[in-house]
Amino acid sequence: MDFIKVTEQKEPFVALIELNRPKELNALNHQLMTELLMALQQLDKNDLVRAIVLTGNEKAFAAGADIKEMAEKTAIEMHLMDRFTTWDQIRKTKKPIIAAVSGFALGGGCELTMMCDMIIASETAKFGQPEIKIGTIPGAGGTQRLTKAVGKAKAMELILTGRFLSAEEAHFYGLVNKVVPVEMYLHEALQLAKEIAQVSPVAVQLAKEAINRSFETQLDEGLAYERKNFYLTFASEDQKEGMKAFIEKRKPEYKGK
Ligand code: CAA
Repeated sequence: MDFIKVTEQKEPFVALIELNRPKELNALNHQLMTELLMALQQLDKNDLVRAIVLTGNEKAFAAGADIKEMAEKTAIEMHLMDRFTTWDQIRKTKKPIIAAVSGFALGGGCELTMMCDMIIASETAKFGQPEIKIGTIPGAGGTQRLTKAVGKAKAMELILTGRFLSAEEAHFYGLVNKVVPVEMYLHEALQLAKEIAQVSPVAVQLAKEAINRSFETQLDEGLAYERKNFYLTFASEDQKEGMKAFIEKRKPEYKGK
């Protein structure tokens, strides 16, 4: 893997993925996105991983899709390359992904943070969809996910002007979970991942699936989906262990089964 680095952390059951194209501010070219998807698919199958942190570096989470890679392409070439299929598959990851964001999270970089399940931001983080300034529009979900995250008025402002959203504003609008000093953002994200890795991974995955369902369905259908997943947890050893441990007043030991 040339453009990403994967580390399984000392903390139990947590993996860290670092985007690693620093000179290009982690611009998301095809190779990087393919490597990222492969890493996520491998971690999804790895029983020693229960939560994933995805980060860049202090200056940039990612400054967008690689402009140099696509500048001269025609619409048909873009259509045939179908690069966003790779991007779409990222959201199929079953395990929770926390984006740890510092510096620029722009264009496809912002869209990638929104494909994650939670976002921890450093005070220096800047979110935005500046595609309008280079004569195009978001292509990896920005018009949809940003609108759902911050509401129509703010999404219109950001996408139609290309303005950036500061970490503080992103927190105010509910785009990010927490803003911390720059020296703390990765630690904070790993702590969150570690906390999630301590509960039943079966229940975590079923909960993630049900929450994501709320973006796709009407309430009735979403509630039915939740109910099925709730009942499904009763097929797991983890549910039996969790409830037994509560009654016996001890700490549960989850196996992910
Ligand atoms: N693609 C390709 N290369 C990029 C890049 C990108 N998205 N963003 C930055 N780079 C490169 C720069 O070309 C530069 O390379 P060279 O040293 O070879 O010239 C290097 O990274 C450092 O960038 P800057 O010198 O520009 O750094 P800066 O600190 O002055 O500015 C910035 C930082 C404001 C983020 C600026 O780089 C910038 O505006 N980048 C582009 C942001 C953007 O428009 N993103 C949207 C891309 S389109 C998209 O993402 C579509 C989609 O929906 C999927």
